[in-house]
Amino acid sequence: EEVVQIRRNLLDWYDRNHRILPWRRNKHSKREASARDGEGNPGAPLDLPDQQFIYYVWVCEVMSQQTQVPRAAAYFKRWIAKWPTVQALAAASQDEVNEVWAGLGYYRRARFLLEGAQYIQRDLGGAFPTTSQELQKIPGVGAYTGNAMASIACNQPVAVVDANVVRVLARLRRLSADPRSGASVKLHALLANALVDPDRPGDFNQAMMELGATVCTVHQPPTCQDCPIRNQCQAVAVVEQFVSDGGDRA
Ligand code: ADE
Repeated sequence: EEVVQIRRNLLDWYDRNHRILPWRRNKHSKREASARDGEGNPGAPLDLPDQQFIYYVWVCEVMSQQTQVPRAAAYFKRWIAKWPTVQALAAASQDEVNEVWAGLGYYRRARFLLEGAQYIQRDLGGAFPTTSQELQKIPGVGAYTGNAMASIACNQPVAVVDANVVRVLARLRRLSADPRSGASVKLHALLANALVDPDRPGDFNQAMMELGATVCTVHQPPTCQDCPIRNQCQAVAVVEQFVSDGGDRA
């Protein structure tokens, strides 16, 4: 039915179009051989143990929270070169961490990463838990980061809801949404959890975020002609009428 179509169309699109990023292992996905990373190089698939991968996902998701993904990727590479494991990070000083973080802003996020690594090393014997609920006990890890880590690294069927995902869902269902309102995010989280693909939740979540960042954009008008779920979208007719009326040039 419709939900199945949305999942399939979105995942097919993601398999063909996803950005090659240094934290993507693609364990649960097919990867196009022709895909290229941001520097034009063929994307090397990461081959990492699960614990290593969840550390990568944690760092990248915290970095991506108030930072655009391509910029976060450059910082991510430097971070991992300096602290390849959560054990290495736990032994760092706050000054060292701030130095690598410099320029990303919101230094509280860097403090949380160090405190989180110390918590995992001290209280959990150095091993990340694998459910969103347990992951959310790590300092600084809320529903967004916990669900991202659990779905991408542990294949748990939980939805990731950021401002991009709220906008995509609101357009898909023609709901009014305010990503800054708790009630609005809660409603869209219910929709997202009903929609998330149970077999490939991590790819589904990243596809939703990627669709919001690259096609179903906050900038007007979105490029609906490139959208894999336009046939299921309740806003596409409104957008296309607006564009054909010359609204985008007005
Ligand atoms: N934005 C934040 N995290 C992301 C991810 N893992 N994939 C795509 N966009 C993102």
